[in-house]
Amino acid sequence: MHQSNIAMIGLGVMGKSLALNLLDHGFNVTGYDINQQNRLQLEREANTLAEHESKGRFFSAENLSQLLGSLEKPRVIALSVPAGSIVESVVDELLSVGLSHDDIVIDTGNSLWTDTEAREKKYAGQLRFFSTAVSGGEVGARFGPALMASGDESAWQYVQPMWQAIAAKVDEHGLPVDPFEKGEPCAAYLGPAGAGHYVKMVHNGIEYADMQLICEAYHFMSQVLSMSAVDIGRVFERWNRGVLNSYLMEISADILQTCDPVTGQPFVEVVLDKAGQKGTGLWTAVNSLHQGAAAPTIAQAVFARAISAQKSVRTQLSKQFPFAGGKSHCLEHQQVLDELEDALYCAKLVVYAQGFDLMRNMSDQEGWQLEFATIAKVWRAGCIIRAGFLQMISQAFDTDKTLNHLLLADDFVESLQSRMKGWRATTANSALYASPMPGIASALHYFDSLRCETLPANLLQAQRDYFGSHTYARVDVPENESFHLTWSGTVREQVKA
Ligand code: 6PG
Repeated sequence: MHQSNIAMIGLGVMGKSLALNLLDHGFNVTGYDINQQNRLQLEREANTLAEHESKGRFFSAENLSQLLGSLEKPRVIALSVPAGSIVESVVDELLSVGLSHDDIVIDTGNSLWTDTEAREKKYAGQLRFFSTAVSGGEVGARFGPALMASGDESAWQYVQPMWQAIAAKVDEHGLPVDPFEKGEPCAAYLGPAGAGHYVKMVHNGIEYADMQLICEAYHFMSQVLSMSAVDIGRVFERWNRGVLNSYLMEISADILQTCDPVTGQPFVEVVLDKAGQKGTGLWTAVNSLHQGAAAPTIAQAVFARAISAQKSVRTQLSKQFPFAGGKSHCLEHQQVLDELEDALYCAKLVVYAQGFDLMRNMSDQEGWQLEFATIAKVWRAGCIIRAGFLQMISQAFDTDKTLNHLLLADDFVESLQSRMKGWRATTANSALYASPMPGIASALHYFDSLRCETLPANLLQAQRDYFGSHTYARVDVPENESFHLTWSGTVREQVKA
């Protein structure tokens, strides 16, 4: 009788690719999808794979009872269904056809981490609810994604061999290797339920911001330096060979050098400038506001998408306020490009620092004990934000387990100091030439605020006390003592609150 190691429910782009990846690595997989076409499509592709002996066997289940019957025990069932209430509907249906308390159900979607926490509680005692956030899109899922697992620790021992086999791999220098070669897998157990989805959410927040930074550089080069898309693509290609090496830089270089097959124009110029979003960046920004852990560059990236969607207002305002400012030909082209490269690097580093700071806050709050070096290692390959400098980030957290903020790591202090001038010049140019850089500028303001020992929050506290008697602490007495000044009377006196 056929015994599968794992079942996949939901055989859309991601579910199908994960299933094929598992088969590739010799695991027997059962597949089920409410849409029969998806199941038959996977069946066809799995049959082609099956011609190779080393591959796992595929079993196509026509219903959930067949699916359960095809699995070895404890059963491991991965869900690749849209985030939201559908996850629970599927789990409830599985329970109704006979799941046992030992069985493991893994949510591989982009679920909101609080939903995952709630689901683990809801299903406790009925099954082992586990989660694994997947990054890398279709190609990643098919040939090596980054996998962020969390939940029931006892479930991890069943899941781990499969996840580590199919994940992207890196060599000892943190460079991607063929997923069939020996290497360190980009798959790890990160903590209790919710932790993995939280880390993936922050990954996506960083993704939004990193994309925005690259787009700002492109916009400036195109609008202010009048460079063609192809030339910008070539510069990105060069940058991708240096400190800015990343998947997002690589694909941007490729996109910019691609022609539209319909018109022959640069492809990027025929794409409408209105950005969509599914919401994970928004979740990150909202979470940062709730926590009081600043991630302004991630929030700016979400706002930038919202502003891009206001196309008709932008069109009207561009006519009302045409830019009649300075002349870009006064700029020394190569110098400006070098400064821009420095600015991108600094802002990118700040974005990652904001993301890790968020995770530190949440980990402390939830008692997750997240290991930041492990997270950076998982992100070195397979995921969308994979970048050369994640190796440095993992080393920084490995060297100092108590590192409070990424910007305090020795290597990053030096690399920021040497690039600071370019970052400031670029931000100044963006204002002078009216080329919006909300990401690059907000990263600089975040950095400048953090490095300011004294901020004007003294005046702010005084204002709050003035109109609302909200009290203030003093610099010359212990901070836990608070005071109020009698602002309304003719004589201003301090009273202890
Ligand atoms: C990944 C991606 C993936 C998805 C984004 C797209 O890690 O593989 O992040 O999860 O492509 O969520 O997000 P938007 O549609 O919101 O840009």
